Amino acid sequence: MSTHEETPEEHLPSEQREHGAEAVKRPENPFADPGLPPHEHRVQDIDEAAAKRSERAVAFLFALSMVATVGFIAAYVSVPQDKSIYVWPLGHISAMNFSLGMTLGIALFCIGAGAVHWARTLMSDVEIPDDRHEIGASPEVTAKVKADWVQGAKESGLGRRKLIRNTMLGALTLVPLSGVVLLRDLGPLPGTSLRHTAWKKGKLLVNMNTNEPLRPSDVVVGSLTFAKPEGLEEHDHDFQKEIAKAALMIVRLQPENIKDKRELDWSHEGIVAYSKICTHVGCPISLYEQQTHHALCPCHQSTFDLADGARVIFGPAGHALPQLRIGVNDEGYLEALGDFAEPVGPAFWERG
Ligand code: FES
Repeated sequence: MSTHEETPEEHLPSEQREHGAEAVKRPENPFADPGLPPHEHRVQDIDEAAAKRSERAVAFLFALSMVATVGFIAAYVSVPQDKSIYVWPLGHISAMNFSLGMTLGIALFCIGAGAVHWARTLMSDVEIPDDRHEIGASPEVTAKVKADWVQGAKESGLGRRKLIRNTMLGALTLVPLSGVVLLRDLGPLPGTSLRHTAWKKGKLLVNMNTNEPLRPSDVVVGSLTFAKPEGLEEHDHDFQKEIAKAALMIVRLQPENIKDKRELDWSHEGIVAYSKICTHVGCPISLYEQQTHHALCPCHQSTFDLADGARVIFGPAGHALPQLRIGVNDEGYLEALGDFAEPVGPAFWERG
């Protein structure tokens, strides 16, 4: 049964009601290629003055990119790293990060905007349809591509519009310099700085919470105390750099529970001082289990036995925590008897 027979007449479109379903003409192929609309010339194609204006606009964008790249380098060498500025709506931010981001952003944007404006207004915009063909070009097609390439290069005006070409080459040559100057941050080499910390003979152990020098009586069995070297204050310029190497954790063990002879020799009445910096990738260790004497790093669960030379008993850490040799001075305060005997924290490539 046909659709026409199933549908009541009053529900058919008016055209079908008047002429019957057969009378409605349908296109033979609704998906036929409609072809290209007629080509419309842009104002730059017919007005040389407009083309010149576009050329100057493109050159201006490329020149602006060059200025921004020079600004990037100038900002990198002249803006102090610790200077902050107020920028609405971001608030207080690093002046160096802001100026580097802005200048590099402008440099890259101007190159992109210049290229787009050039292509949209000055390069040929003639539509060139092509039929689908087999993958893999024949020699004739290869020759045609080469010819098209040469013609495209000619039509882009690369040879004729020297102002654009030269400023574009200048912008493209300068912009990689932004990355080159950043290579400076790879240096200088750390030298021996990773092998030494702020600890040395006679430095008092200062409680990091109270900022008071520690006496042996301040460290009780079962407690975990964090300490820093005397004289290292939070407002110091290099505080973060130094505390990242010098932070200590101090626990008191029963001397008879200490299994490692050197650990016992380097302790004071069962008080042992170990680097707080995990030897895996450097997280600060912050958990201590007094029954087992285990210290646990929260990052990847490396576990160290503080009663046995802080050797690794679980987890990815590669070696034991370095111990600091401690004693008591004439005034009864805990003091270091030297620096760590080995580098603290994770292994590094020149550690040997
Ligand atoms: S940093 Fe401590 S276990 Fe990974």
